[in-house]
Amino acid sequence: MRAESIWALDQLSKADPAAHGPVFARADRAAEEIAELLGAAPDEVVLQGSATHGLAQALYGVSGTVIASTAEFPSVSLTVERAAQASHGALTPRWISPPGGLVTTDAVAEALSDEVTAVAVSHVDFRTGYRADLAALRELIGPDRLLIVDAVQSFGIVDIDWQAADVIAGHGYKWLRAGRGAGFARYSEQARSRIRPVLSGITGTVSEGLFLDELPAAAASARAFTVSQPDHLAAVRLAAGVSEIRAAGVAAIETRIAEHIDRIIALADEHDLPVASPRERAHRASIVSLAPDDVDGLSAALTDAGVSATARGGAVRVAAHAGTDEATIDLLGEALAAFASR
Ligand SMILES: Cc1ncc(COP(=O)(O)O)c(C=O)c1O
Repeated sequence: MRAESIWALDQLSKADPAAHGPVFARADRAAEEIAELLGAAPDEVVLQGSATHGLAQALYGVSGTVIASTAEFPSVSLTVERAAQASHGALTPRWISPPGGLVTTDAVAEALSDEVTAVAVSHVDFRTGYRADLAALRELIGPDRLLIVDAVQSFGIVDIDWQAADVIAGHGYKWLRAGRGAGFARYSEQARSRIRPVLSGITGTVSEGLFLDELPAAAASARAFTVSQPDHLAAVRLAAGVSEIRAAGVAAIETRIAEHIDRIIALADEHDLPVASPRERAHRASIVSLAPDDVDGLSAALTDAGVSATARGGAVRVAAHAGTDEATIDLLGEALAAFASR
């Protein structure tokens, strides 16, 4: 990724426009490779400035009643709220506050009624690490409602059939390690037929290039949900990140991470640290939420030991990448032991 970024900078620094073309082409490649990972058609995926941009494109264009949890990352909850405020009554949030913030199929079932047109949910919850069952949610809501998914905490590391979701928004700066500005989203055929492209811009029309003295209609493809050209340097990083993920294989990455998480949970148990995340592999991805009484103390113990973790919302979140090595997990074990013995 570093080499690709440097190559792109070199190319773009040349005055010859022909040198820029291969860099610009990386945006299409990134979208194509993401589409392949999602099992989607290439024209269903577009790059976005961020995952939140991708969600906003969907939520501002939906009407009816949208189910979402109050405990969602604000990219879902705040966007639902703002979209409803801007909709002049066309969109109504139906907030759910399920126990532990876990958007289970049962929690959604309780809130379902005829008015509901969409469910917006994080595939993997940023706080608890709970992995929602997208296939079960789809079965529950039926083929006609939209399933709008924030895939930030799962894309690239969880190997599932993404066909269950109509909208899938993600970004490059977590599991793809591609940095900021590298968001993307998929809008299925059903999504495109139901969601008005209200935030559509100059790249979102039926016109292939720049248009002047006319105002073309929105494109039929997911391009309708774009505003302008992507950040090409971010797209180069995103393409490199997705290529790396594809070369390693999402299933292999998921298995390796699951092994790491098994070990991390075992270490927490060994030191009597409450685990607030699901323990079964099917209900988790790569976040383990530790909830001791002294969250700040645990956070400080990890920092002192050189382990990076996030303290948020009354818990410390630990995560493992596929490439996290034994020595790092041993370091975590030592830090947990030191904290527990205090
Ligand atoms: C679940 C989830 N959704 C969305 C975001 C924000 O993504 P972006 O910055 O690409 O809008 C985050 C960031 O941490 C997140 O954890």
